[in-house]
Amino acid sequence: MRSRKYLDTYMKDSKNTLFLGIPIAQWHADLWLWEKFFSTHRIKSLIEFGTGSGGLSLFFLLQSMQHHFKFNSFDIARPAALDEPIGKVLNLKSHFTQGDIMVKLHNVIVELITKSQHPILLYCDNGNKPLEVKTYTTYLLKDDFVAVHDWGVEFTRKNVPISLELIPFREVTVIDSYTRWMRKTK
Ligand SMILES: C[S@@+](CC[C@H](N)C(=O)[O-])C[C@H]1O[C@@H](n2cnc3c(N)ncnc32)[C@H](O)[C@@H]1O
Repeated sequence: MRSRKYLDTYMKDSKNTLFLGIPIAQWHADLWLWEKFFSTHRIKSLIEFGTGSGGLSLFFLLQSMQHHFKFNSFDIARPAALDEPIGKVLNLKSHFTQGDIMVKLHNVIVELITKSQHPILLYCDNGNKPLEVKTYTTYLLKDDFVAVHDWGVEFTRKNVPISLELIPFREVTVIDSYTRWMRKTK
């Protein structure tokens, strides 16, 4: 927990946690874990719930270009990154949908999951993580992935649906990350 305490303090200054100049609600060490994930697991689609300012979405969008997967991000609010030079150059707008993922966009998301190529990775960093994971995991297939943020705070082991298993990821425990990756087993 020592690393969490240090990194939480570091993150309190939002100028410290940027990607390409755009805020990210992550520790930078998590980007290293995401690098490992993308180079280990070949996904075809990534769906992000909770764009925030859009810094992490830019990171995901660049990864999608390198690793050849489709990327879509959802948020009820408009992310600042859309209006920044890097957001415009990468055309983040065409990967973003604005709306409430639990109400207005429910059918849109189910259709996206149904039509997307698998394996899909669903990344939940939104308002109610246990509910999002529970709701949308049911539409995933065996060997799809779910990742969740705020592990140990907003989402704990008891929130892991029975159809998911945690991926043993040594580095996650080394930095005591807030992110956990899971695989659908049935
Ligand atoms: C913690 S921020 C996401 C941070 C981002 N993933 C990052 O790492 O920089 C959570 C986001 O969830 C969005 N949100 C909360 N409830 C939502 C809902 N029901 N539908 C869509 N977006 C929602 C908020 O607007 C907020 O931008």
